[in-house]
Amino acid sequence: MSESAPIEHPSGLTSGDLIEADEPLRLFAAWFEQAARSEPRDPTAMSLATVGADGLPNVRMVLMKGFGEAGFVFYTNVDSQKGHELDREQKAALLFHWKSANRQVRLRGPVERIEDAEADAYFATRPRLTQIGAWASKQSAPLESPHAFEKAIAYYVAKFGLGTVPRPPNWTGYRLRPLQIEFWQERPFRLHDRLEFRREALDTPWHKARLYP
Ligand SMILES: Cc1cc2nc3c(=O)[nH]c(=O)nc-3n(C[C@H](O)[C@H](O)[C@H](O)COP(=O)(O)O)c2cc1C
Repeated sequence: MSESAPIEHPSGLTSGDLIEADEPLRLFAAWFEQAARSEPRDPTAMSLATVGADGLPNVRMVLMKGFGEAGFVFYTNVDSQKGHELDREQKAALLFHWKSANRQVRLRGPVERIEDAEADAYFATRPRLTQIGAWASKQSAPLESPHAFEKAIAYYVAKFGLGTVPRPPNWTGYRLRPLQIEFWQERPFRLHDRLEFRREALDTPWHKARLYP
């Protein structure tokens, strides 16, 4: 097989498509759509990397709840460890690994909180017990006692009764706006394809480069 010969991929996309792609969001959308069909569960699951106050990187999984020109959105508690790190550094990295497709996508860029109205609208779509849980969880803080979380849930169930559960003030979404997006596609014999898009600023054009695997 010559270096440039496209290989067939189970998803139907060939490595040739990857090399020819010239716009990262369109390519992400195509890969995401394929992952949504091939992943056994949660193609939205992604690692979120932040930097702690001590300079140590920190990483955990979150779920992507939207993406587009404006960026990649996920939701969390702003008083959690990640919330503090996101607010302090206002920068982060994301990683998708779709095992069924032998692909990963890496993103890096500035992070900002989303608008209250957008967070309210999303919170309103969540199951009621999930909404209650967002009020009851002091995410990332030590539990004061073995049943503290269950007690807090019971408290908020009683407090909100049958009424609407509003969005907690310390729960919202963050948007990462990529300055760098890298697509990685496995190929036989570790001759993997890597395609990196970079831009100097959010309003400047993307530059594309192939990287050694
Ligand atoms: C697949 C998966 C998806 C998750 N999605 C979220 C999420 O969307 N938001 C969130 O706050 N935590 C999510 N979590 C929990 C986080 O990984 C983490 O444990 C929690 O947010 C506390 O992180 P922190 O202490 O760094 O703030 C998820 C965990 C897994 C395994």
